[in-house]
Amino acid sequence: MSVHKEIKRITTNTLQEMKQNGEKIAMLTSYDFSMATIVDDGGIDVILVGDSASNVMAGHETTLPITLDQMIYHAASVVRAVKRALVVVDLPFGSYQGNSKEALNSAIRIMKESGAHAVKLEGGSEVKESIDRIITAGIPVMGHLGLTPQSIYKFGTYTVRAKEEAEAKRLKEDIMVLQQAGCFSVVLEKIPASLAKEVTASVKIPTIGIGAGKHCDGQVLVINDMIGLTKGFHPRFLRQYLNLFEEISGAVKAYVKDVKDADFPSEKEQY
Ligand code: KIV
Repeated sequence: MSVHKEIKRITTNTLQEMKQNGEKIAMLTSYDFSMATIVDDGGIDVILVGDSASNVMAGHETTLPITLDQMIYHAASVVRAVKRALVVVDLPFGSYQGNSKEALNSAIRIMKESGAHAVKLEGGSEVKESIDRIITAGIPVMGHLGLTPQSIYKFGTYTVRAKEEAEAKRLKEDIMVLQQAGCFSVVLEKIPASLAKEVTASVKIPTIGIGAGKHCDGQVLVINDMIGLTKGFHPRFLRQYLNLFEEISGAVKAYVKDVKDADFPSEKEQY
């Protein structure tokens, strides 16, 4: 008899069943071992090693600079921590667009070198060839439509996408392309709730929203924003559960004071 308690892992099939049963999917980002341990232990269904690491971990203004090697480093750290959640890793900017062979190589590197379970990429029909090749190799793909931050210089702003009929129509066509190509799920970022409701009802694969309203099959947030580590970032879609910036800042100030006052370490804290 095994002494190890069996943990039922979340798979892409589990997410499909959750949509069919009307059970909402909870997804959060993580980028390192310590945070992923806490997030997985908290019962999250999907952990996204997002290229938002470029912003919140590396301090870049956009997601464009992060490299494939850096994404693999973050992903491998997360995978080492996770016992239950499905781990999805973003293909970074420049690793899959316009060259489906390179896309496949990038996805294979992520799977082999990090041990993750799936990849995510941004875009619709324009990246279909890359999606086809990756899925043919047996690698599950999550899509991402609406506000796609890797195209920020095309959009010019981070405002809500697909408010106009033409862009909404294109998004509806694109989600069908992703479903037909075999994507197991699609992130919908910053689009009107009514549009997210319509496309969620129109597809069999689960939609995961961020700033896309309550009718998506699941929700995702960037962990650093959700626990208040990111100072001064308060978009309307964000529910902030903690103010860790203030908490940690308070702890640092208290430590500095204790050291300066020669109060730390005490007799009990030395050998
Ligand atoms: O990189 C990321 O964190 C993401 C989420 C915002 C969906 O793509």
